[in-house]
Amino acid sequence: MNLSNNTVLLTGGASGIGLALAARFLQAGSQVIICGRRADKLAEAQQLYPALITRECDVANVAERVELVRWATANYPRLNVLVNNAGIQNRIQLADSPGDWETLRQEITINVEAPIHLAMLLIPHLREQPQAAIINVTSGLSFAPAAFAPIYSATKAALHSFTLSLRHQLQPTGISVLEIVPPAVNTDLGGPGLHTFGAPVNEFADSVMARLAAGEHEVGFGTSEQARLASRAELDERFRLINNR
Ligand SMILES: NC(=O)c1ccc[n+]([C@@H]2O[C@H](COP(=O)([O-])OP(=O)(O)OC[C@H]3O[C@@H](n4cnc5c(N)ncnc54)[C@H](OP(=O)(O)O)[C@@H]3O)[C@@H](O)[C@H]2O)c1
Repeated sequence: MNLSNNTVLLTGGASGIGLALAARFLQAGSQVIICGRRADKLAEAQQLYPALITRECDVANVAERVELVRWATANYPRLNVLVNNAGIQNRIQLADSPGDWETLRQEITINVEAPIHLAMLLIPHLREQPQAAIINVTSGLSFAPAAFAPIYSATKAALHSFTLSLRHQLQPTGISVLEIVPPAVNTDLGGPGLHTFGAPVNEFADSVMARLAAGEHEVGFGTSEQARLASRAELDERFRLINNR
């Protein structure tokens, strides 16, 4: 994809991977709108990158998703790229009172329902735009799950599956469908300190953006690159490694 001359709507762009991707789109000469729930994080991001356009939005809420797309397309009619990046990760012991369902289902709503709905809301607009694209941020855990994050891993497998179908269906429309498959990256995903063992976010973002710019459709980094290309036997081995068995 061409990283310049786009108007990008990027969910969860105020921190971590989203902010790193937003910075690279800006640097390449694109306009970037980021959204998230925390106003203070959005303001911090804008202080770092004054060209960012920010919008408070909880993508778990159907009405807020509809309003986000209405507002963004009305105010930025050249919007041509959606990046479904917002996500949460919960560590849950399924046999050990994991909590109430209303709380648990948020992970499914944010990680799967929201990106599917946002893509569907934006397809009619995107199909009228030049160099349109939808980029979904999945995970190496889409391919071999981490049992300590069972719902999270299932949501990322679902989003990977949806991305394949979306790419197939959108082929005649000219909308590119791309997938970024992160490995563990050093962000605050799941809470501060849980991903400090992960890859440095800037190294990861430089690599995946360069590969998207070079025309690849599905890009991983390090272990997630291995996972997305692995055989079933290799995935079984990865599962054992991740889950210490
Ligand atoms: N870091 C990793 O190891 C890793 C590995 C594989 C995949 N990923 C994926 O990469 C993506 C980015 O995660 P990250 O690692 O950069 O973690 P992060 O820093 O926690 O970023 C997640 C972002 O999503 C936003 N978000 C969460 N729920 C939202 C909601 N309901 N509405 C709007 N925004 C919401 C958060 O902002 P607010 O809280 O302010 O809303 C935050 O800015 C996620 O999809 C994650 O699953 C990360």
